[in-house]
Amino acid sequence: MTAFGQPHRHYSVTDSTNTRARELALAGAPGGLVVSAGGQSAGRGRQGRSWFAPRDATLLYSALLRPLGERPLLPLAVPLAVCEAAEAIAPVSCRVKWPNDVWVERRKLAGVLIESRAGRDGWAVIGVGLNVAVPEADFPPELADTATSLSTAGGGEPTVPEALAALNEALGRWVDAPAEEVLAEFRARDALAGEQVAWEQGEGVVTGIDDCGHLLVDSTSGERVTLGAGEVHLAQHGNRP
Ligand code: BTN
Repeated sequence: MTAFGQPHRHYSVTDSTNTRARELALAGAPGGLVVSAGGQSAGRGRQGRSWFAPRDATLLYSALLRPLGERPLLPLAVPLAVCEAAEAIAPVSCRVKWPNDVWVERRKLAGVLIESRAGRDGWAVIGVGLNVAVPEADFPPELADTATSLSTAGGGEPTVPEALAALNEALGRWVDAPAEEVLAEFRARDALAGEQVAWEQGEGVVTGIDDCGHLLVDSTSGERVTLGAGEVHLAQHGNRP
């Protein structure tokens, strides 16, 4: 099992915890390093998007996995760790929207941005934004119908430090989990299986994921399509989440 959280750097505000962790990785920081922040001025999401997070209400977390080794299913393993961490501190039931958004009741609870460097000294920065205690009214209008937070979905008063400790623990287990375990758990939590989805080039019904973690879709034009990267959207939900 990999141990995350040692060393730990916390910033009250930084531009992006992923950027900080990447700089530290390039400067030779050890695996296990975790960077967190109370706020980000330039939080980054997948596909070049930005990441909204009000101060001290979201876990803003970047962990350095080093050496990276052979971990082709890392993008699937990380959201499973986030699901477990969330469920450990709040009464919620999480699912994963391929490849790595975490949903509760079809609303986005957390997002994952993994940035890696291949090669002999390969490493990965695992970035996670997990909404812990964001009051519903604090989400901007464009996220009001699609985002949620542990405090809203589960009630109670979950805290960011609790979320950080739970994620350190769950991530340590999931980054080293055997491929069969990652695939089985992902399939059990797959929010898209059986759903009508749309992507840039088409539309169809998701049948699941293959053993490489690619999304399998029976397209409306009658072919079985394998999607390895990019974004799909629930067809009936428009563009987001
Ligand atoms: C997404 O859903 O698009 C991924 C969002 C990832 C956001 C987290 S917040 C902590 C870390 N630092 C960043 O700049 N991004 C990730």
